[in-house]
Amino acid sequence: MDYYDERYAPVGQTMLFENERIRIWEILLEPGERHPTHHHLLPYLVLAVEGDQNKMEWEDGRLTTSYEPPGFFIYREAGSVHDLTNVGNKRYWSRLIEFKTPDAMGIPDSDHKELLIDTNQGEWRAKTLPGLAEMRLWGNQATGASISLVKFDKGSGIPDQHRHASNQFMYCLAGQYEYSQSGMILRPGNFYWNPKGNVHGPTKALQDSVLLEIYDGPHYPEKPSWYKDDRDAK
Ligand SMILES: [Fe+2]
Ligand SMILES: [Fe+2]
Repeated sequence: MDYYDERYAPVGQTMLFENERIRIWEILLEPGERHPTHHHLLPYLVLAVEGDQNKMEWEDGRLTTSYEPPGFFIYREAGSVHDLTNVGNKRYWSRLIEFKTPDAMGIPDSDHKELLIDTNQGEWRAKTLPGLAEMRLWGNQATGASISLVKFDKGSGIPDQHRHASNQFMYCLAGQYEYSQSGMILRPGNFYWNPKGNVHGPTKALQDSVLLEIYDGPHYPEKPSWYKDDRDAK
């Protein structure tokens, strides 16, 4: 497992050390220099060796400043997406230590019991595309992997060609779901495997269709234009 979100820069500039428990990075920014937007897939501790005033821009557009003099440290949980700019007049130099926690690795913690989800009682979440809904059954934030039920009303589908950032697997539970370019039609009992990076689509539900959809990593290299909500592409 490599803990990189390919859509962004690495979390630090130089990796100094890695073992199965931690990863240590160096960040060095001259005044005015910026470290590009990155996605923290692991919880981390930043320890400033040299530094002063920094600014961060977050994924949701928020701007925050942080005063990080020598010896300053901060711990953050996984999940944040931001950049980092040195807005002070001293060099910023830090160590960033990432922790490969069992949770971030997708391993349930010891008091997590097995889980049973009755999908008959589950809630469908409507996606941006009309006629398309999803019920998320399992996900791993660290890798982007997921398992969902997806439902397409007759006539709905994915409007254009696209590729996925990981392997995709579908098992058809009901209906008829067509991949127009290849002519494949998934029917109940059919299993479909679409390798990472393969261009496919558009798709169309020839009948009301329900599919179990599995990705072994992030769904898309970037958010497709037909989705407005970030959750639709994850
Ligand atoms: Fe960061
Ligand atoms: Fe697709």
